[in-house]
Amino acid sequence: MPSPNTICLSDPQQTLCSLPIHTGSMGPEVIDVQTLYKETGKFTYDPGFNSTASCRSQITFIDGEEGVLLYRGYPIEQLAETSHFLEVCYLLLHGDLPTPEAQKAFEHDITMHTMVHDQLTNFFKGFRRDAHPMAIMVGVVGALSAFYHEALDIRSKADREMAAIRLIAKVPTIAAMCHKYSTGMPFMYPQNQLGYAENFLRMMHATPCDHYAANPVLVQALDRILILHADHEQNASTSTVRVAGSSGANPYACVAAGIACLWGAAHGGANESVLHMLRTIGDSSRIPEFLAKAKDKNDPFRLMGFGHRVYKNFDPRAKLMRKTCHEVLDALDLHDSALFKLAIELEQIALEDEYFNSRKLYPNVDFYSGIVLHALGIPTNMFTALFAMGRTVGWIAHWDEMISDPEHRIARPRQLYTGPGRRNVPGFQPS
Ligand code: CMC
Repeated sequence: MPSPNTICLSDPQQTLCSLPIHTGSMGPEVIDVQTLYKETGKFTYDPGFNSTASCRSQITFIDGEEGVLLYRGYPIEQLAETSHFLEVCYLLLHGDLPTPEAQKAFEHDITMHTMVHDQLTNFFKGFRRDAHPMAIMVGVVGALSAFYHEALDIRSKADREMAAIRLIAKVPTIAAMCHKYSTGMPFMYPQNQLGYAENFLRMMHATPCDHYAANPVLVQALDRILILHADHEQNASTSTVRVAGSSGANPYACVAAGIACLWGAAHGGANESVLHMLRTIGDSSRIPEFLAKAKDKNDPFRLMGFGHRVYKNFDPRAKLMRKTCHEVLDALDLHDSALFKLAIELEQIALEDEYFNSRKLYPNVDFYSGIVLHALGIPTNMFTALFAMGRTVGWIAHWDEMISDPEHRIARPRQLYTGPGRRNVPGFQPS
């Protein structure tokens, strides 16, 4: 009889092996297959990692069936209502909400590192003006690796903390510089007296010629967008950061890898794709035509901003973002704009459609965040850069957790080889 916390794997003839089962604090139990190959000579096959836990983690918990998202145990709804983004950053990095003193010190540290080394600005000149901001971000964030040799010992906790502070502080500055570069405007320096979200909006929208004051409703909306995007357990870009970091690569290079992965339309690029899709649809009379395309298996078109690998009932971030969306549209008196009306109509029609209902395809966070960012005056090609700003803390928290985990090893998956068997190169003469 196997013990209650093991599972036996057998083929019709025999028991192959007995595998341990681990129980987390929440979520499904996990079968530990680490010894499977040694004991049976077989690998597991799980493309897309539908059934694979790649690590132990204490940072974020998701229950996709129930629509639950917890950062360090705290529900996202509560954090979004009561906290600021930098408090959430502290929580994700340190495991608990900060005391007022710790919060002050953390905010001070971030503020003191928002400026980038002046030589970093030279990297921008190497890019064409029409380069996508994400292309520039991958390069420039990776280039940070070359600036901080004195604090790049990944085994040092102090160096890891310094890298976290630098990345959270500098990514918004770099993101805003990407935008300014593409429009031919001068870079705006960060202002230390401003909060994180307000500072970013100023670096994006202000010019040296005019006074700039951000609308507080928009500052709050951006802060909420950052909170909702801060972490999402082992998503594609976070897993990329972990895989890159598993070899001992430095944190700036790992986060650059995360940014590259995030850029894809199935992941962080979705908010940008939502806006492109709405512009392509153009008018509500064409919604049925595009719904038909989304359902047609021979057509690559998908309804962007709908569906999620993990959330199969609703995305809790989408609920909050929907609320923020309406607050922003009210504040800016934009409810009647053609694009927003089209988005609301599309949402309603898709929600009532049998295809989307039966597959549990609901609007995800990016359906609404794209609309909010558009209302905030953020150009469409900057949407994913803002997602990267929010997610940087999650990436670095996971990277740090992995480096600190004594069980961590270089990530090296195996494969089911389906190519040709061994054969000789034509003309090869064995000696
Ligand atoms: N439009 C039309 N059909 C869809 C869509 C969609 N957006 N999403 C999934 N489906 C269909 C899919 O064709 C499949 O149908 P069938 O069972 O008939 O073969 C079924 O729904 C299940 O989909 P899946 O491809 O197995 O789902 P997945 O978990 O592999 O993909 C996803 C998840 C998010 C990549 C996908 O839903 C998608 O491409 N959505 C649009 C892109 C998007 O909005 N991405 C943002 C995700 S939220 C931000 C983040 O966390 O990164």
